[in-house]
Amino acid sequence: MDTYLETTQDVYRQAALTPDVGLCCTTTPVWQLPGLQIPKIMQEMNYGCGSTVHPRDLINNPQILYVGVGGGMELLQFAYFSRQQQGVIGVDVVDEMLTASRENLKQAENLNPWFDSNFVQLLKGDALQLPVADNSVDVAAQNCLFNIFKAEELQKAIREMYRVLKPHGRLVLSDPICEKPIPLALQQDERLRALCLTGALPLQEYLNLLTGVGFGTIEVRAKRPYRILGPEHYQTEEIIFIESVEVCAIKDPMPTDGPCVFTGKAAIYFGSEAYFDDGKGHTLGQNQPLAVCDKTAKALAALNRPDIYISESTYFYDGGGCC
Ligand SMILES: C[S@@+](CC[C@H](N)C(=O)[O-])C[C@H]1O[C@@H](n2cnc3c(N)ncnc32)[C@H](O)[C@@H]1O
Repeated sequence: MDTYLETTQDVYRQAALTPDVGLCCTTTPVWQLPGLQIPKIMQEMNYGCGSTVHPRDLINNPQILYVGVGGGMELLQFAYFSRQQQGVIGVDVVDEMLTASRENLKQAENLNPWFDSNFVQLLKGDALQLPVADNSVDVAAQNCLFNIFKAEELQKAIREMYRVLKPHGRLVLSDPICEKPIPLALQQDERLRALCLTGALPLQEYLNLLTGVGFGTIEVRAKRPYRILGPEHYQTEEIIFIESVEVCAIKDPMPTDGPCVFTGKAAIYFGSEAYFDDGKGHTLGQNQPLAVCDKTAKALAALNRPDIYISESTYFYDGGGCC
């Protein structure tokens, strides 16, 4: 095993034994749900950088897989929606993290009358070789783990998620991204990498990896500031701005003209007719925004019409789009 993977396991072994608020990664608010009590220890062990729990992915009693369990907070949030024995499978490679998560879920059982800790099945396993059958889960999630992986392992981890998802299943992820190249010395610092600080890729590169394994639809749901690496604290001459993203990659068949990637663009027709029909399945109502994927946005822009406005990417997409 590459030494950075061992260092990562050491970092999280320690983080399991001694919860470390702010170790990694988030300062985003922990969202609450009616009737859900999150134990304090789970909040202290929130080592994610966003949320992977989106109610609209969680209809019809989905089978959920969560890789890299941390303190178990998102396992509990997922179980809130799935509410079935072993409806959520949590996989982690670090024994101590699995133990911590198991104990925290027991605490959650005492606080939440609706929750049975058997709703969650915890399995020892590696993101690079998941102990899960092909085509068996509806939703697969990871929060702030994949950014740690170097190119070869990242590709393996994404392929594994693709393998275990059912057709039309969803990979929901939250991870740091960085548009500027991170200096090599920082990238190779195993501890900083394990702390989710220096492995981040540019967003487009990350999305290309997802579509490259076959995900036909991609939704970029949120993007927000995450960290600054400045010369005072890190080995860098320039300030490095890191953001975090929430992305959903759907195992839809790949369209013949390439993936549908939603980055939060909208098109608005404001001409003299009641609507505009592009003859390719997209109808724009008079002055009504339609969320469009980047492919449709490009095709509409190529028409060069003065009565169609196309927005920039907002990196906020919440469904209802053109494809
Ligand atoms: C940054 S923490 C994120 C924890 C959790 N997802 C959260 O949001 O709080 C990374 C997690 O991945 C686990 N992990 C590290 N390497 C792993 C691997 N190769 N396979 C599976 N889990 C791994 C760690 O033990 C830890 O629980």
